[in-house]
Amino acid sequence: MSIDINSTQNITQGKIQGPNLLASINAFNRLANDPLQLFYNLHAQYGDIVCLNLGFQKVFVINNPLYIKYALQENIKNYKKLQRLEMQTKLLFGEGWTNKINRQIIRPFFEPQHYATMDTAIADATQKMLARWQTFADNHQSFDVAEEMMRLSLSFTAQTLIGNDFHTGLDDVALAMQVIINHFNATAVSNFNVPESFPTPANRKYMAAVQTLQTAIDKIIEERQDHGTDKEDLLSVLQSWRDETGTGLSPKLLRERLLWILLPAFEPIGRALSWVWHLLSLNPNVERQMQAELVRVLGDRQPTFDDLPKLNYTKMIVQETLRMYPPFWVIGREALEDDEVGGVHIPAKSMLLFNIYGVQHNPQYWDNPEGFDPERFMPERARNRVGAAFIPFSIGPRACLGYNLSIMQIQLVVALVAQAYRLELVPGHPVEPAAMVSLLPRHGIRMTLSQRI
Ligand code: HEM
Repeated sequence: MSIDINSTQNITQGKIQGPNLLASINAFNRLANDPLQLFYNLHAQYGDIVCLNLGFQKVFVINNPLYIKYALQENIKNYKKLQRLEMQTKLLFGEGWTNKINRQIIRPFFEPQHYATMDTAIADATQKMLARWQTFADNHQSFDVAEEMMRLSLSFTAQTLIGNDFHTGLDDVALAMQVIINHFNATAVSNFNVPESFPTPANRKYMAAVQTLQTAIDKIIEERQDHGTDKEDLLSVLQSWRDETGTGLSPKLLRERLLWILLPAFEPIGRALSWVWHLLSLNPNVERQMQAELVRVLGDRQPTFDDLPKLNYTKMIVQETLRMYPPFWVIGREALEDDEVGGVHIPAKSMLLFNIYGVQHNPQYWDNPEGFDPERFMPERARNRVGAAFIPFSIGPRACLGYNLSIMQIQLVVALVAQAYRLELVPGHPVEPAAMVSLLPRHGIRMTLSQRI
């Protein structure tokens, strides 16, 4: 749906550009409908910093990568994560999930030695999925690859973080995750949310999903406490953490910290993987080049993490997918004190929305931004690009801790699946990005398989 903001009266207060009060409120209320188009229109009409004046609060949409870098890196002390998100996730992640102490606790897990055995877990989960796909291939049956990628990502993310993919409970947990993600999507853009303690049908469904997830995680924590492990996963890092008084995390805190990583880790990986298959099916030349690389580097052998540095083209496909469909298409912050960004005064308590999708599709920074061109990530072509124009993992001290790991995981899964099957989009199936909390395919991605010989 296209959003017409041309009919509104522009205001220019000093250097602040944006629609007037009524049009701003109107635009903000319509954020839920088609935010990508709304942000595009706002940028085209008002430029790099757009101010939506909501009366009680100013919302700044930031479209310039250097301004984003300034707020997220150079003056990060002045910008905290949005209260609204903290409230939304409190039940699952508990208090203080933005606390930088969490980062210190989990950082050891992101040392490369912890990745050593992950490739086996990822390959096993992928091979299990591919074995299930045999029925789709035999019957020329179409299926939703987006759903499959979310399930796969949940399975190997859980395996690598907590050493266990919920065994027979995987389907129940996947369903619970879906309900929780839908709930976050619905409440993130709604102006009024019934408190979660009110037993509306939607809330009851959400609470039941939270219960399923918490019970599943608690069971894994208990098992680990009873039997121990030699695994060096996130759960053991968290279990062995002690503060200066020698106190470890309580079971509740342990569960909250695990969920704080599990959910934001598995969801974007699943989304990114879904978009890869869509883009490859639309770009057979790219797909052919990737196949040539897989055959040249691997022959018939299954890839491991050690092979990834040689699968350069496959890596560029992952990067280009993250450029075109950044799973977290917008990042939000609140200003603690007055500041100036790009010459514009930002009053304390303003909300800042960093338009990651917009920056990654801006022709000022990218040639032919709507074209799928993995080779734009070749070092010689990337050299002159503004660094912060590619920020799917954010930037600065609060950037994604799983940056390198994510690229490796996606690269490995793409190679494994592409060795077994070619995926083709079902003709006529509408594939359309929906910018919710993450960027997801609104109608799924229905595909069919043909087996590689
Ligand atoms: C394609 C996959 C992924 C993408 C695109 C992604 C993107 C992001 C982004 C944009 C943020 C910053 C959000 C903000 O500042 O508001 C973030 C934070 C974070 N990510 Fe990722 N992420 C991915 C996968 C992962 C994985 C696999 C892990 C862990 C195993 C992970 C762990 C984290 C953590 C712990 C933070 C919070 C850092 C903090 O608040 O200090 N992410 N991620």
